[in-house]
Parts: sequence; structure tokens; C-alpha cells
Amino acid sequence: MSGLWCVVPAAGRGRRFGGDVPKQYLQLAGKPLLLQTLERLAVHPRIAGLMLVIAADDASWAHGLIEVLGKPLLRTSGGAERADSVLAGLRALPASVAPDHAVLVHDAARPCVRVADISRLIDEAVPVGGGLLAAPLRDTLKRADAQGRVAATEPRESRWRALTPQLFPRGALEAALADAAAAGVAITDEAMAMERAGHAPLLVEGSEDNIKVTTPADLVLAEFLLARAS
Ligand code: C5P
Repeated sequence: MSGLWCVVPAAGRGRRFGGDVPKQYLQLAGKPLLLQTLERLAVHPRIAGLMLVIAADDASWAHGLIEVLGKPLLRTSGGAERADSVLAGLRALPASVAPDHAVLVHDAARPCVRVADISRLIDEAVPVGGGLLAAPLRDTLKRADAQGRVAATEPRESRWRALTPQLFPRGALEAALADAAAAGVAITDEAMAMERAGHAPLLVEGSEDNIKVTTPADLVLAEFLLARAS
């Protein structure tokens, strides 16, 4: 199998993070967070190229960058929601990426993804038509009422947290995301769009340290995790 392209949505505003600089441009271990993530992906031997999706009015991105660690880097503009950005990225992929060819989607905000986890996702999800990295829920899960009190304790068996990368055939994922958008359904990850289209994506257990940097405390944790060997 030839190399896979990876769509990297990075068009979020990072509202939960606060501050003036969008979170993907904050310094993490000496480089912008976004560049750390792109290098993590580009270093993988089975990733052929990167499709970066950034906001149309993004003034912080180094627009001259056309490759990362020798892998081609293409760029397109994102949309209002993450799913809109991913769909824009899929549509902007080179024509050489055939509809039945698997593509990866990975959040720019997850700089600590492990090379070995990406390999396992590719090995296990490609033969079954798609899947995602995920982590089984380890904490007890509570449902809250309107007053912030426990309304119920939910069973945690069979519950997983969806991570990225997620891997699906380009054409099927594009169709599933476009269909959900047309129906006005809010989609929070690629697997959800594929589920809606009747697929059952494979859950591939990934490392818990593949965190999504959402708050300033996460940035400190990501710096610690990056300092260790992946
Ligand atoms: O907001 P959230 O943390 O779920 O975003 C996950 C990823 O999706 C981030 O890398 C963010 O930049 C990206 N995103 C996007 N377009 C949006 C919203 C989020 O590319 N409209």
C-alpha cells in the first residue's frame, strides 16, 4: 500500500484556552504547537503528505511552508465547525488520492500522538474499512441534573473516549460528512459521520497520553509528555 495523506484541522479559535494567540501557535517545547503536531505526523514512514486546514483569516501561519520533514504540505481554509474544516480538507486533497484510498484525520491540538499508535491504527483499520484511536473509559461516569447534582451513575463498561487520528476511505468520509452537513446534524468526529451512514468503525486502543490541548494546564502536560521518547 502506498502512503496515506493526513488532514489536519487547525481552524479552531481555541476559545476555551483564552489569550490573544490562537492555541495552535503557542510555544510547546521550543516550537509552535501546530508544528510539533505536523512533525509528529510527517515523521511517520507511512504518511505521504499533510493537508493543513486553517482559518481563512489566520495571520499567524508561515504561509511559505510547503513541506514538513520532506513530506508535502498543502493548505486550505476551514469552516465554522470542525466537521466543516475536515470536509474542506478532504475536498482539497490531490486527485491522486482515490475515493477508496484511506486517509487519516488528526487534530492539530494533539501533538503527543505516538508513532506506534498511528501504525496500529493503519494496520488494523485499513482492512476493515475504517476506525479510530480511542481509550476505554477508566473513571466512574456520572450524569448531572440541572443543579449540578448526580442524577445517575452510568455504566462505564463498553464506553470509550474517541481520540484522533481517525482513518476512513476518502470518498465514503467525504460523502458522510457532506450528508450530515446537508441534514444539519452536528458532527463531532469522523466516526460519528460514518456511523450515521451505517458503518461500524473499529475502536483501536491508543495511548492515554494522546491528549487534546484545550487549557493552559494541558500545554504544560504536553510539554512533559513530549520530553519523553515517543
Ligand atoms: O474545538 P476542538 O478542540 O474540538 O477542535 C479540535 C480540532 O479541530 C483543533 O485542532 C481545531 O483547530 C480544529 N477545528 C477546525 N475548525 C473549526 C473548529 C475546530 O479545524 N471550525
